[in-house]
Parts: sequence; structure tokens; C-alpha cells
Amino acid sequence: MASVPSLASDVHQRLADALTAALPEAGPADPLLRRSDRADFQANGILALAKKLKGNPRELAAQVVDAIGENDVLKEIEVSGPGFLNITLTDGAIVRTLAARAADDRLGVPLRDHPGTTVIDYAQPNVAKEMHVGHLRSAVIGAAMTEILEFTGETVVRRHHIGDWGTQFGMLIQYLIEHPHELDHQEGAEVSGEEAMSSLNRLYKASRALFDSDEEFKARARDRVVALQAGDPETRALWQRFVDESKIYFYSVFDKLDMEIRDPDIVGESGYNDMLDETCRLLEESGVAVRSEGALCVFFDDVKGPDGNPVPLIVRKSNGGYGYAATDLSAIRDRVQRLGADTLIYVVDARQSLHFKMVFETARRAGWLGEGVKAVQLAFGTVLGSDGKPFKTREGETVRLVDLLDEAIDRASAVVREKARDLTDEEIAERGTQVGIGAVKYADLSTSAARDYKFDLDQMVSLNGDTSVYLQYAYARIQSIKRKAGEVRPKAHPELALAPAERALGLHLDQFAETIAEVAAAYEPHKLAAYLYQLASHLTRFYDQCQVLSAENPPEVVENRLFLIDLTARTLHQGMGLLGIRTPERL
Ligand code: ARG
Repeated sequence: MASVPSLASDVHQRLADALTAALPEAGPADPLLRRSDRADFQANGILALAKKLKGNPRELAAQVVDAIGENDVLKEIEVSGPGFLNITLTDGAIVRTLAARAADDRLGVPLRDHPGTTVIDYAQPNVAKEMHVGHLRSAVIGAAMTEILEFTGETVVRRHHIGDWGTQFGMLIQYLIEHPHELDHQEGAEVSGEEAMSSLNRLYKASRALFDSDEEFKARARDRVVALQAGDPETRALWQRFVDESKIYFYSVFDKLDMEIRDPDIVGESGYNDMLDETCRLLEESGVAVRSEGALCVFFDDVKGPDGNPVPLIVRKSNGGYGYAATDLSAIRDRVQRLGADTLIYVVDARQSLHFKMVFETARRAGWLGEGVKAVQLAFGTVLGSDGKPFKTREGETVRLVDLLDEAIDRASAVVREKARDLTDEEIAERGTQVGIGAVKYADLSTSAARDYKFDLDQMVSLNGDTSVYLQYAYARIQSIKRKAGEVRPKAHPELALAPAERALGLHLDQFAETIAEVAAAYEPHKLAAYLYQLASHLTRFYDQCQVLSAENPPEVVENRLFLIDLTARTLHQGMGLLGIRTPERL
């Protein structure tokens, strides 16, 4: 395991050193290096520095060039315009760096120097309810963020804060008591997720109907909530049946999503029950929360309703019931104090932003979120239908996530079948699933989380454009070339001159580690998706301009090109893997 500094950081260092050598009195200065179309890099920092020291920028630039001296990384440095530097690297430096990356199974991506502990709250469906596209977003973005952070060396604790508590359970449990066989399944029979959800649905609808029409049932249901909260064993056992039944369903959906969710990480709202009293007591004793109209509330100067009156965070309702806020505050105490988190991430719909703002602020005032602890909501936007409105069925109902996934798999299978030459039906089904699920995940991950996006299956499974299918084909094509190469193995040849498309591909490959670091620091998986898309685009241009297995190529050119595409494939595989997307060997 060896981390490989990027060429950009190498050049940056050389320039910074040369700047200091040329201008010792200036102290450390930033050469402001960036990729450029004219050369490989452009440094713009000299201008500002010269201005500051009232010198001539072009002269200073020339001095810097002198101070850099002979080396085997920089081929050419040219002073241009008012005092920019255009920098071209040697081909050898590019291939040598890539060879160092290829020699490392982490592709040269360093582990962070001081990794911490992040607790990430994602994939949080609700018990006895169908999963919809919002749950898709949390699951997909959260899983990608988890993988990316772990890859950088961070310790990540997953928390699936499922909605498994609340007044609706009084109604459900009471109904089950009065209709005891409604959740029964045939002895020994394997229950599918679909079956589990349909019996939960049936029960939900029936109990809701009774609750709305029968005052006496309503009263019994209310008493049942009290019994549940008081921990009455029979009530709790029935509640557990709802949770277990729902988990069968959740797991079937996560499975379809090709996503591993572990049981101990499912700690729903109910998991913090025993802390709620204490949380309220501590808030009240410290004066962070006050009683207002019988409820326990926290007020904020900058949170007001349309009428100008303050809108408090209600920690305990006037009837004594706890809500979402009490649970989330207790979860913060647990995650920071017991799990040792220094970062808390919540992958939750942007429409809950005010809730989290108030919860975080309350926890800060209470001292549960100290200075060393960061709390962020990785807020995501809404999934829209083709009409630009929140995604609904034609009947105006929320779309079932499973239906969407099935449709994506169908469409993707059709695409795979059309392209397939030597695939069996079974292989088409398997690839279709990998392509379809990949397409859904990629569409979600390739726009910045905060933005809304349109759920457009035709676009998602298109072979051209910014789609996972395009990336998967890029990967599979490389594998096919490698198979055709047979005995000829990839090998780096730093002595060779590179074609422009090879250099561009190589320089992009070299940015993988920096991209990962950036994505991990800013919680922006869409930047990884963008990087991978650019990588595949560089590869397409490379194919246009450079033949890999041509008989006209000298053997070392074939080896070197195989080396380039092989490293591209490994980078695609690693990157896509972090996003939770498969890269089939053949498509
Ligand atoms: N179950 C909630 C929903 O479906 C999301 C839970 C978010 N996490 C949290 N700690 N509040 O919207």
C-alpha cells in the first residue's frame, strides 16, 4: 500500500519551491496551479504575488522558470501573457506515475492521516409502509458516501433510523389483536418481501378505515399506544411482529438494490426510547428547553412562522408524547457519547432541513455537540416525474420503489439483449439487473444531491451520454480488448512518446486520488460520478485516435496502451464500486 502523489501536487510543490527561491522575502506562496487546455497545467499565482511586491510579473515568472532547473518531470515551462506559466510535463513522468498507481491495489489513493469516526444516518424507511423514491435517494447516496469514507480510512458506523414508533402503531396493534390471524403466514413458508408488504398494506388500510369510522375502536387504539409506550409485553410483542414483517420487505428491496444492510445497524426511532425522559430532563434543567402551553419547547431567534411568531422545536408534546425531535436528540447523545462520533451525517430529504437545523442547534446549546463534533445534513432534493412535478403515478399516488426498479431492470435487459452477441438468457437477465440498478443509482448520484432531478428511465439506460451504461460499456470493452490481447500483458513503457489522447487519459487517471479526497471531504458523490464519466469520455477519444491491438504497433506500444486501458478499467471498477454500481466483465 503506497500512496502516490499526483503530478499536479508534484508540480505544485516544485513551483512553490521555485517561488520561494526566487522571492525568499515573500514567504510561502501559492502558484495557483490548474489544468489547462493550452499546456498540461497553468500557474496563475505569480501575477498576484508580483503585484503585492510591486515587481514585474513577467520578470518574476522568468526567475521562477530559472529556479526550477533541470528535471525529468517538467518538459517545458513557458511564460505567457502578463505572467502566467504554461507547463508541459514529460511523457515519461506521466507513465511513471501511472505505473506507481497501477502497482498499488488502492491505485495510489492515500488513507487519511487522521481518520475519525463518522456515524451516517441513511436508508431509513418506515415500518408498515411502502418504500418510495425518497427512500431510494437516502439509501443510494448514503451507501455511496459510506463506501467512499471507508475507503479513505474513516471509521463509519451506519445507522438506519427507521420509522418504527408513533401513534399509528396503536391502531395497527389494536387491529391485530381484534383480527389475530391477519399477519399469519403458512407454517414454514418462506415469505417474500412482496407478500410481507401486501399483508402489511392490507392491515394498514383496514385498521385505518376502522379508526376513522369507529369511535370506540379509536379509543381502544389510543389506549394501545399508551400500553406500547409503557412497555406492556403483549403489546410490545405484537409491535415486534410489525417490525419483523416490515424488515422482510425492506431487505427484499435493499437486496434488489444490490445493497447490504446489516441488522445491528437498523436502530429505529424506538431504539432511543429509554433515553427520551432523560433527554427532556437534561434540556429542561439546563434551561435549553422551556415549557410553553404544556409542551416542552426550544425556541430560536431566527425561526418564525408566517405570522411572525416563533416556531419552537417541540421535544415533548402537551399530552406527554414524544415526537421526532426527542428521538433525534437522544440519538445524537448516543452517537457522540457512546459511539464516539466526531462527525454525524444525516442523509435526509431537504424538506426536513428546518428540523435538523433546530435539532443540531439544540444539541449544541445542550453541550451534546461539542466544538470537535461536526453535524451535517446531506440534504437531497425531490425526485420529479417527466412533468417536472414530484413523482406520482397517474392516479396521483406515490410510486412504489419496487415497481420503478423492476421497470428499470426490464428496460436495461432490453438494451443488453439488443447489444448482446454471445450472451445466454441467464447472462442477459443478470447483466440486465446490474445495468438497470446501476442506471437508477447513477442517475441519482450524478446530479448534486441537493438538486431535484427527473426520473427518466429512457435517458437512464441510454448508451450515450452521462449514464452508468456508458461507463459499464467502457469497462466491458476494455476487458474484451484484454481478452483479445491474449498472451500480451499490459506493461508501462515510460520511454515512449505519448499521443495527445494518451496524455489526456493519463493525466485524468492521475487525478483519481485527489477526486476521492475532495468527494470525501465535501460529501459530494456526484463529483466522483463526474470524474468517472470524464474518464470514460477520455477513453472514447483515446480509442478514436489510438489503436491498441493494431498489427502496425510496435510491441511496446501495444503493451503500454494495454497498460493505460487496464489502469482505466481498474479505476472505473473502483470508482463505480464506491458508488455501489457493478461493472460486468462482458456486456
Ligand atoms: N424515516 C424518515 C422518513 O421516511 C427519515 C428518518 C431520517 N433520520 C432521522 N434521524 N430523523 O422520512
